[in-house]
Amino acid sequence: MTVYAIIGGTGLTQLEGLTLSAALNIDTPYGAPSAPVLRGNYAGREVLFLARHGHPHRIPPHQVNYRANLWALKQAGAEAILAVNAVGGIHPAMGTGHFCVPHQIIDYSWGREHTFFAGELDHVTHVDFSYPYDERLRRQLTAALMAESCAYSGHGVYACTQGPRLESVAEIARLERDGCDIVGMTGMPEAVLARELELPYACLALVVNPAAGKSSGVITMAEIERALADGMNQVKAVLARVLGA
Ligand code: HPA
Repeated sequence: MTVYAIIGGTGLTQLEGLTLSAALNIDTPYGAPSAPVLRGNYAGREVLFLARHGHPHRIPPHQVNYRANLWALKQAGAEAILAVNAVGGIHPAMGTGHFCVPHQIIDYSWGREHTFFAGELDHVTHVDFSYPYDERLRRQLTAALMAESCAYSGHGVYACTQGPRLESVAEIARLERDGCDIVGMTGMPEAVLARELELPYACLALVVNPAAGKSSGVITMAEIERALADGMNQVKAVLARVLGA
């Protein structure tokens, strides 16, 4: 049975319903991950869980040690990764509360440790990243979203910005011209590091606000937190359905 790891984002720093068997403090060549890797039983199967921003939520997107997180999950035995990400909606279909399982990503982040292939190397490696997300995992997520009667899009282009600030209206207009549908701050380098470790990876994105300029007002943390609180039960139901299948 595939060992799935869930990387929980904002709003998902712990996984209720996980019957804990171990909290692993894993040291990696890249430093410490955001939190202990939790191992336990969820929806009838062994799973791993890692809070991307730590628990409690304290590490901003640009300071997450993505390399340590991915390395630790691999070390703990992960064979596939389901990442949960809160995002802003750019495409008109991506209203608050809508889910997206992106099929593509554009990386606008900078200055992050974004590869395991650095330092003293025997040879240079260029991983293929034509299709950043694993199709089988994507299909599992979309099937679960449908079964849970969630509003979702089975495709979308994820724009990964640097944060921690939100974007300007002009920046969102540019992302839209680039073909982006949703915007978040944590999709990269997580996706490519998973690829470098040969871990199939897919993203379950929950829209928690219209991106800058996509609503009449400004974006408030209160609206984001409300949308997270409203959407998390659906996120958990979707994950349970994928893992229980
Ligand atoms: N922009 C970037 N990241 C985000 C947003 C946003 O509007 N909402 C949630 N994460």
